[in-house]
Amino acid sequence: MFAGRRVALGVSGGIAAYKAVEVLRGLQRAGCEVRVGMTKRACEFVTPLTFRALSGAHVVVDDYAPDNPDPIAHITFSQSVELFVVAPATANVIAKFANGVADDFLTSTYLASNAPVLVAPAMNTTMLLHPATQRNLARLRADGVRLVEPDAGEMACGTIGPGRLSEPQQIVTAALEILRETAGRRDDLAGERVLVTAGATREELDPVRFISNHSSGRMGFAVAEAALARGAEVTIVAGATTARPPAGARVVRALSAEEMRGAVMREVEGSTVFIAAAAVADYRPAARAEEKMKKSGSALTLTLEPTPDILAEVSRSRHNGLLVVGFAAETERVVENARDKLTRKNLDAVVANDLTQDGAGFDTETNVITLLARDREQPSTLPLMSKLDAAHHILDEIVRLRKAK
Ligand code: PMT
Repeated sequence: MFAGRRVALGVSGGIAAYKAVEVLRGLQRAGCEVRVGMTKRACEFVTPLTFRALSGAHVVVDDYAPDNPDPIAHITFSQSVELFVVAPATANVIAKFANGVADDFLTSTYLASNAPVLVAPAMNTTMLLHPATQRNLARLRADGVRLVEPDAGEMACGTIGPGRLSEPQQIVTAALEILRETAGRRDDLAGERVLVTAGATREELDPVRFISNHSSGRMGFAVAEAALARGAEVTIVAGATTARPPAGARVVRALSAEEMRGAVMREVEGSTVFIAAAAVADYRPAARAEEKMKKSGSALTLTLEPTPDILAEVSRSRHNGLLVVGFAAETERVVENARDKLTRKNLDAVVANDLTQDGAGFDTETNVITLLARDREQPSTLPLMSKLDAAHHILDEIVRLRKAK
């Protein structure tokens, strides 16, 4: 499974740089082809020659160096690998990754790569626990970077505490786990036409006011991005969003629940999977004022009426083979309420968001989801992760349901 898998190993400048040799050897033993890139500072701890001798390939430190055989190495290197492992990753490199700074080969490679990234931090305990580093690590997690948490113990500087590079074997195991996941997911949605709703609806009161919610569209767009990466054709019906849809998806805009219903019912005809990630208003003003409503000084009573339930309608009128997945945004009895939606709306699966959890739900980069499926008794609750990772787990469930159908 790992033979010939192309891995980039980035080495940055810390005392643990010598352990990167063991990471390289471990990946090679599993069958991976490993190319190495280093920061200038890393070369003060281990020479590029060591990695060149072991990897059999030129080690890139500086794109612009006259001995570099490839003048745009950060692009060719980054786009030809299936996984980018950075071990050790210093506080400085982590800060640059988190902020999109690309001032050397390693950091430019990070920005130019679409491959999954695994980062193994190593630094002095005080530097690790500094709020700036913790902020940067949280940013990387939210960006979908996987971390191999550093160990605690005695550091080279004599401090005792967390910050020591995790054991090379643990880094290798984490890297192989990612390669295993991506191998299974490669093109496993080829032939599927996925329709996703994303963002918030707006229900107008008058020409300038509306009822809406905090959905950014990130979750729906992440589902779309993951489905595209796995070979599906993707259409997004998007309400109001603050995030940017992924390139490669067809986007149909629909602002109100009624418009979204119309767009979905048109698009679902040619779809094989429907995923309702949008936060659709349950109620809208019973009447929309033609002119801007005037302030009267006394209390204003609004009459609201229910909006059409798009998900229920798609499920009711579904054609053969269409898989229908809903979301459930809950603040109490999360699994029970989500299970109720699954049964009542006759869905194949439900993705429950527990809105009481930190980093979950509306307008966050991350999510905490519980997956429920019609053919599985036990729900599966996943830990805090990026919305893109959560999207891949949702799609894994869809692939499983498709095989079971
Ligand atoms: O966009 P983000 O900022 O990333 O936030 C993500 C999210 C929290 C919006 C998303 O992950 C989520 O939970 N979406 C569903 C929110 C919601 O409306 O939940 P609900 O429990 O009220 O609705 C249940 C399901 O019915 C949802 O799939 C919803 O799209 C659908 N629905 C609801 C009402 C309606 N009139 N029509 C519908 O189709």
